[in-house]
Amino acid sequence: MQVDSLILGAGAAGMMCAAQAGPSTLIIDHAKAPGEKIRISGGGRCNFTNLHTDPARFLGQNVHFHKSALSRYTQWDFLDLVTRHKIAWHEKTLGQLFCDDKATQIVDMLRAEMAQAGAQLWLQTSLVDLSHDGTRFTAQIEREGKRHSVSARTLVLATGGKSIPKMGATGLAYDIARQFGHSLTETRPALVPLTFSDQRFAAISGVSAPVVATANGTAFEEALLFTHRGLSGPAVLQVSSYWAEGDPITVDLLPAHDLAETLKTARQTHGKRNVTTTLAEVLPERLVDHLSTELSLAGNVGDLSDKRIDEITTRLRHWTLTPTGSEGYRTAEVTLGGISTDRIDSKTMMSRDVPGLYMIGEAVDVTGWLGGYNFQWAWSSGVAAGRAI
Ligand code: FDA
Repeated sequence: MQVDSLILGAGAAGMMCAAQAGPSTLIIDHAKAPGEKIRISGGGRCNFTNLHTDPARFLGQNVHFHKSALSRYTQWDFLDLVTRHKIAWHEKTLGQLFCDDKATQIVDMLRAEMAQAGAQLWLQTSLVDLSHDGTRFTAQIEREGKRHSVSARTLVLATGGKSIPKMGATGLAYDIARQFGHSLTETRPALVPLTFSDQRFAAISGVSAPVVATANGTAFEEALLFTHRGLSGPAVLQVSSYWAEGDPITVDLLPAHDLAETLKTARQTHGKRNVTTTLAEVLPERLVDHLSTELSLAGNVGDLSDKRIDEITTRLRHWTLTPTGSEGYRTAEVTLGGISTDRIDSKTMMSRDVPGLYMIGEAVDVTGWLGGYNFQWAWSSGVAAGRAI
């Protein structure tokens, strides 16, 4: 069969692209349903964008690359689409927008937009072979045990990154990009819990606290959660994107509290009280118990010298930890790195070397913060390519 455009991957970016492209578009996916990551995202409510979307909240080797697409199709444009489809939404925190009801409303919306544009969606379809004769792409694809040969003027790589292989994530976009001479930047799991080989936090698993976590100079003020295997919670997921194996992270356990003042006051008013009891007024009790050996917190608050108070305060506000690893692609929300943006046109997402080849979404070396930024990149890059093809 002959089509104008063949899109590989019916996830967030691929569907958005198909919804913008002309009617002669075939979008294929090996999964049973399109947009599976949308369905499970945001605890089933899909954090579909962020009001504070800004290029500074994205990582990639070229920090300017994503500016064009994000400014041509913004969070307001996507919100407008959501509103037109009468999907009720709310802001949870930090500009994060979620569906009031369920994430599948976003999938249904994209399916409706694709149908209106005339795109054909083939599910449970795999790519078997791909070639290019300089003007057209020829793909051998398999659907329900039958082979089809598809000739397309443009080919869009939208198969995402490597995170959650159980959900069907593959490195297909990377392999094809490489086949056509594009280079890849180093990939690693991001927005992922960090682990310690000694499981030192197992006893306080489930405890959480508002903190400022910092890795390699980038800090996030959000919640931290102790887990059996290490650290999680939004603060840690965020810094994981800036962390590499061997690096320390720093945690300020009392960002909104003048601990030295609290201890000095308690020294005068409740001198006979244990240091741990005093600390448990501002930190979770189980966390204080855990820290009491490491920080030698035994004794009464009345016996603390100014020097010792400064020492305790510094330790709690600059708690330095060196995770041994991360939970990996098994649970990572995204893949950091990907197809290098060096040879991609930022306005259209088309290869500068292979006319007609487009790369969008998570497969490309653009990674957003936690909070709806990654979907916004999928929408913006999908629209950029969809309008161009
Ligand atoms: P995406 O992964 O969505 O789609 C790729 C598609 O390609 C899939 O349908 C897959 O089946 C298909 N595919 C892969 N290999 C193939 C092959 N070999 N052949 C055929 N098809 C193939 N982001 C956000 O902004 N807000 C949020 O709330 C969340 N929440 C969230 C939760 C969880 C658990 C995860 C794992 C991720 C998130 N994310 C998120 C991240 C977000 O899901 C992600 O950034 C986008 O889905 C990326 O969109 P893409 O279209 O690029 O890839």
